[in-house]
Amino acid sequence: MLVKENDHGHQRISRIRTRVRICVFFVLKGGILESLLRQWDGEEVMIRFDHPTGAWIIIALHNTRLGIGTGGTRMKHYSGLQEALQDAMKLAESMSYKYAVADFPRGGAKAVIALPDDFDTQERLNLLRRYGKLVCQLGGLFETGPDVGTSPDDMDIISETGDPYIFCRTPAKGGAGDSGPATALGVFSGMQAACEQLFSDPSLEGKRVLVQGAGSVGKPLIRLLLEAGAEVLFTEIDEPAITHFRDKKGLKFIHPDKIFDTPCDIFAPCALGGILNKDTIPRLKCLAVAGGANNQLAEAADAERLWGRQVLYAPDYAINIGGAMAIIGIEAMGWSQTEADQKVKSVRQTLNHIFAIAKAEGINTDGAARRIARSRLFEE
Ligand code: PHE
Repeated sequence: MLVKENDHGHQRISRIRTRVRICVFFVLKGGILESLLRQWDGEEVMIRFDHPTGAWIIIALHNTRLGIGTGGTRMKHYSGLQEALQDAMKLAESMSYKYAVADFPRGGAKAVIALPDDFDTQERLNLLRRYGKLVCQLGGLFETGPDVGTSPDDMDIISETGDPYIFCRTPAKGGAGDSGPATALGVFSGMQAACEQLFSDPSLEGKRVLVQGAGSVGKPLIRLLLEAGAEVLFTEIDEPAITHFRDKKGLKFIHPDKIFDTPCDIFAPCALGGILNKDTIPRLKCLAVAGGANNQLAEAADAERLWGRQVLYAPDYAINIGGAMAIIGIEAMGWSQTEADQKVKSVRQTLNHIFAIAKAEGINTDGAARRIARSRLFEE
């Protein structure tokens, strides 16, 4: 009997312990989300839980001083709300810097749709329609286009309920379509600026360029590079893309494990972010990094690491504005395709300006670009 009582006591204590642990977990979690929001220097975050799918929809408006908050919609799996929120805030901030460096009249914003592990893909279209409705309800506070995990076809669906705040619909639905080629043109122009700095000649002829990711930006970029006479190396994880570029186009394929150790003139990250960090930077064997991916640096200190290794870094938000710039220009500002191409090519002047400030003041290129952007985002 006594033993039993003790058993009961133990069970109760262990039950209470479990409960306490759960509470501490939630308080801590709440604390983390709270401190993330407090530390962020952005304007607003909207979070909606999509009950039918279990997805989180996050819309982050970072700085709308220069214009309407505009940024892509990223849709992918995240480990949870915290990681998704962090990504949305960081990406929205990059959009602010992107527009500000280029002196383009838009504000920094981004949307993240964080899919749950057990996401039912049959619900995808309905989720996009519910998301479109939310964007529409914001009444013009936020405008969006595609990003990682979404396409012009998805923009068609979102615009069914989100019209008129959706960029990059397919041409069949009256939009300007894929923003990848324009982003690639901007990146290519940025590479010309890098060559000007490195070799006193903007030509890419004979330059060895390693492109990471042959997707919506990487693919048109490879085409531009080949036309310019560059030697293109590429890395990919998608088998059909590997076969296409290696076997049909005869390009040299670099195994993903070897990208950071491969000697080249320019390394062009055109896949996901965070790839330049304290482990990969010491391995780099390139003279410059110039690519289309967002948030290439894992942390701010990585810009200084690159500078220390004398790798010329074209800040991602300065070099990859081409897509957003061209599409917004064409769809909302009445630009022709020729005008859009012309404006996108101005990435070259922007980067030359950034490189010149960095050189003159002995600061890294990210610091130089941020200085230009901040003067437009925060100063009177
Ligand atoms: N993915 C684009 C970017 O990061 C987002 C975008 C595309 C925004 C087109 C507006 C229009 O720049």
